[in-house]
Amino acid sequence: MGAKFTVQSFQEAKRKQEKITMLTAYDYSMAKILDESGIDSILVGDSLGMTMQGKDSTLSVTLDEMIYHSKCVTKGVERALVVGDMPFLTYHINADEAVRNAGRLIQEGGVTAVKLEGGVDMKDTVKAIVRAQIPVMGHIGLTPQSVNVFGGFKVQGKEEKRALELIDDALALQDAGVFAIVLEGVPERLAELITKKISVPTIGIGAGTYCDGQVLVVHDMLGMYSDFTPKFVKQFAQLKQTITASVDGYIQQVRSQQFPEQKHTFTMDSSVLERLQERERV
Ligand code: KIV
Repeated sequence: MGAKFTVQSFQEAKRKQEKITMLTAYDYSMAKILDESGIDSILVGDSLGMTMQGKDSTLSVTLDEMIYHSKCVTKGVERALVVGDMPFLTYHINADEAVRNAGRLIQEGGVTAVKLEGGVDMKDTVKAIVRAQIPVMGHIGLTPQSVNVFGGFKVQGKEEKRALELIDDALALQDAGVFAIVLEGVPERLAELITKKISVPTIGIGAGTYCDGQVLVVHDMLGMYSDFTPKFVKQFAQLKQTITASVDGYIQQVRSQQFPEQKHTFTMDSSVLERLQERERV
């Protein structure tokens, strides 16, 4: 296992033009596998509202749920930098509340940094959290917590006005002190422009190849979440098929008594068994 990946490593990677790798995780076992595989960063994303809870958006995820999943993930991670998502309405009311809630993710969840959605509007909030010595990752573009304002999960920044807003958002977040910015669902050449313009690394999801790193939802890239597959997802495995075939095999073998085999069972002393049989008359 290599040296711990830190917020400074994000900066260093951009300087050296080495791509940063990030995936989501929501539980101990998956986090441990990702960490042992050498992933740079793990996001405890509020996408768990969809992948873990089966909701059709991230809006109902609570801070307590994020803390619970953050605890599970951080228990399995030694090297990767773990970022915890701030759920909807936990940073929108005022900066004091945002600092307190970000602090809970750090103290109770054990994450190293928090992520929140929004640009210019969130500048003062980000500054306040950074002032409390909590590293913040920004997130702009197709921000899922704004799904109702966007009228669906729609690519952002195709037109000039919206593209200019996103450039302003990136600059505002950089100015506020974020250590990285997720660019989600934006045209590739706009992501390239933003990546060149700012000095903090950009982490793309549906933002093309020019970002300083990439993030995907782990259930999407492993082919485990079939409700909806966005265009930007590449399935590196088809685990749904693998799991279905495995469960099918288990059902068949239990029914046909092929499982469990002798090697899966425990023995006992025959004299003990005989006494029990005698006593119970079986
Ligand atoms: O919640 C999440 O998983 C995210 C990623 C899609 C960036 O925010």
